[in-house]
Amino acid sequence: MFCHPEERSDEGSSRRLLAGGQIPRFARDDSRALFLSAVSFGHRNREEERAMSQKQSYHMTPEEFRRHGHAVVDWIADYHRRIESFPVLSRVAPGEIRAILPASPPEHGEPFETMLSDVENLLPGITHWQSPNFFAYFPSNASFPSMLGELLSAGLGVQGMLWATSPACTELETHVLDWLGKMLGLPEKFQSASSGGGVIQDTASSSALCALLAARERSTGGKSNEQGCDGRLTAYTSTQAHSSIEKAIRVAGLGVANLRSIEVNADFAMRPEALARNISEDRRAGKTPCFVTATVGTTSSGAIDPLREIGRICREEGIWLHVDAAMMGTAALCPELRWIQEGLEAADSYCFNPHKWMFTNFDCDCFYVSDRAALIRALSVLPEYLRNRATESGAVIDYRDWQIPLGRRFRALKLWFVVRHYGIEGLRHHVRRHVELAQRFARWIEESQRFELAAPASLNLVCFRHTSGDSANERLLEKLNSGGRIYLTHTKLDGRYTLRFCVGQAQTEEQHVEEAWKRIREAAETVS
Ligand SMILES: Cc1ncc(COP(=O)(O)O)c(C=O)c1O
Repeated sequence: MFCHPEERSDEGSSRRLLAGGQIPRFARDDSRALFLSAVSFGHRNREEERAMSQKQSYHMTPEEFRRHGHAVVDWIADYHRRIESFPVLSRVAPGEIRAILPASPPEHGEPFETMLSDVENLLPGITHWQSPNFFAYFPSNASFPSMLGELLSAGLGVQGMLWATSPACTELETHVLDWLGKMLGLPEKFQSASSGGGVIQDTASSSALCALLAARERSTGGKSNEQGCDGRLTAYTSTQAHSSIEKAIRVAGLGVANLRSIEVNADFAMRPEALARNISEDRRAGKTPCFVTATVGTTSSGAIDPLREIGRICREEGIWLHVDAAMMGTAALCPELRWIQEGLEAADSYCFNPHKWMFTNFDCDCFYVSDRAALIRALSVLPEYLRNRATESGAVIDYRDWQIPLGRRFRALKLWFVVRHYGIEGLRHHVRRHVELAQRFARWIEESQRFELAAPASLNLVCFRHTSGDSANERLLEKLNSGGRIYLTHTKLDGRYTLRFCVGQAQTEEQHVEEAWKRIREAAETVS
């Protein structure tokens, strides 16, 4: 039940009109809440309540679930239909959403209809990531087949920590990740039939951490797990790598002082000769280089590190190479874009996020290793209470040994649904479309007098700036985002304020990109 701050002291008022036109119910206390909801809906009538108390159960019945479930699906479908009517970026002030929530939890259960209708009151506090006018950060796109897969996963309620705790959860995951490996043209060694295999992690951050832990243990012969880090292990990534790499270094105990930020070239891609130089300097200083992360599609500018040269150095030096393709890895679905992962054969691990650009709702990161034994050695701890015959037979995968937590959700269902709904053809179609739209936007920037590209337009990401300098660009971004019709974010490249335009939401089409360009030009008139 929601209560608007101004109305908290107003005993007589029971309704208010929100900016969006909805009339939410609210109540000062739970009895009033129950009264109002009974008046408004009458769904949980006295008979139902009596039946409930007689049953001594407060659970929703399967029939109630069926009815409410249909209402939720209807709500989601309607939300997506009207999504463009909301300001893309939420406009609420800090604390504004909490202020409309009741101070205490309800003593008595509330009708489902009330709960669902109260979701409307959260909408002002939602930034609409699924809007086709969302061009900020990176996409976190979703699709209806994925949402339905997620619902089924919740419905089955499986905890798939071991093969034995739900064989289908493990085997579907292995199978779908093998499919994806083939769909993306990943090296054979990442297939489960070889020495490696794939697993679904929550995020690319977790994949980087798992890769680093496996690298650390390989490099120290298991000593780090036994005795802790001795301060000699070093790791390498470019100045443009995602912050999750530094976080992994912290969590794994290497120490940030042992992370080298490797210089990049004019296109913001890692310079292999700088990597080689840092490694040899460290060796001379008695350090033990153990981990390199290369990025396929950096967050700031979409730069693609030269995997072939980096891989050659890692092989020569016996260093674990992890490739982070969080967003742009999806592009490899299209054979003509597979050049982004040339040289991947030398990698020990690889990850990309279907929860970014492959229509699979958060969370879903696919993590592949070429030597699963190295990962399992680093992460497996087997207490008595998890022992079982299947594990001891050695014939099954227990994914708990491939990740940090013990428990795991049945995420493969949504991925399976996405792949089967779209087919390879459908996924390629939409990825190509996004790339084509972003590249068209980049051409408009190039042709314009007022704007310039800040980096080569990389697949679906365009970094650009107004020629009038940093503060004009800051004002431009503020103006665009406060207008509510589109949402972009920024970065800094070469120390200069840069706007990022990333095309990747499921429903983004030509008209959205054209409209965005029109709005950008109009807003530019007022800031330069
Ligand atoms: C290149 C890159 N790596 C890693 C991440 C982190 O992704 P996640 O939220 O899945 O950890 C991002 C997200 O922005 C990214 O762009």
